[in-house]
Amino acid sequence: MDGADTARAHGRWWSENAAEYHAEHGTFLGDSGLRWCPEGLTEDRAGLLGSVVGCRVLEVGCGAGQGSRWVARNGGLAVGCDIAEGMLAVGRRLNGTTGVPVPLVLGDARHLPFADRSFDVAFTAFGAIPFVPDPEAIHREVARVLRPGGRWVFSTTHPMRWVFADDPSAEHLRVVRPYFDTEPYAEYHGDVLDYAEFQHTMADLVGGVLRAGFALEELIEPRWVEGNTEAWGAWSAERAPWVPGTVIVRARLPRTLRPS
Ligand SMILES: C[S@@+](CC[C@H](N)C(=O)[O-])C[C@H]1O[C@@H](n2cnc3c(N)ncnc32)[C@H](O)[C@@H]1O
Repeated sequence: MDGADTARAHGRWWSENAAEYHAEHGTFLGDSGLRWCPEGLTEDRAGLLGSVVGCRVLEVGCGAGQGSRWVARNGGLAVGCDIAEGMLAVGRRLNGTTGVPVPLVLGDARHLPFADRSFDVAFTAFGAIPFVPDPEAIHREVARVLRPGGRWVFSTTHPMRWVFADDPSAEHLRVVRPYFDTEPYAEYHGDVLDYAEFQHTMADLVGGVLRAGFALEELIEPRWVEGNTEAWGAWSAERAPWVPGTVIVRARLPRTLRPS
């Protein structure tokens, strides 16, 4: 299973499931909010992007572009990019209903359809990274489209989440799968790949960011936000005190290129 197979599958799967996904999670995400993770951490609280006023900001794997709308509301020039036309269609509807329109562009995060050095900041909240076998390809593309000194912030599934059963209760916190087993979770229709999620170890995630040329600024394992009563898959208030569900990485390109 390679990156091209999974990109094709996710373009279809997320398009076909866009309406159902937003019926289930739309209120929690907020039509023009930036929520980093099921734990409930918002950018209003976390301030991970820094000031976006006047900045050119790319949301990678943007879904319906809720995060891009948060950027626009906070004075940035946002563009959202996603592989699933169906998710972008929901986003265009929200552009109208919120009155905060943002450009939404179809594209694979592994081959971003933007020129070199087009953005000051790039981010994603669980977009693209959990769904590709090779997140390093995304980090390299983000490094290409960011200007020197540009910032990259992404949240994704914490690798420890994978070693336990896919269940929100604390009762099932028994290791059922080796941490180092990188066989993806995959669903097929006959022989055709329908959906896949990949376990990336912490070393894969951080090493890929460093190899793409970024310097690590911060690594966050967010705690459950008090008052958040939503369970999302295996993420829940019951499990959260026991084991992290999300990792957020904040990284920056050097301001000047090192001589080779
Ligand atoms: C869990 S959603 C995250 C988006 C948004 N933050 C949200 O919470 O709805 C995952 C998104 O990643 C997108 N995606 C998956 N693989 C991708 C790829 N290779 N390139 C770009 N987007 C991708 C999906 O289409 C989907 O919109």
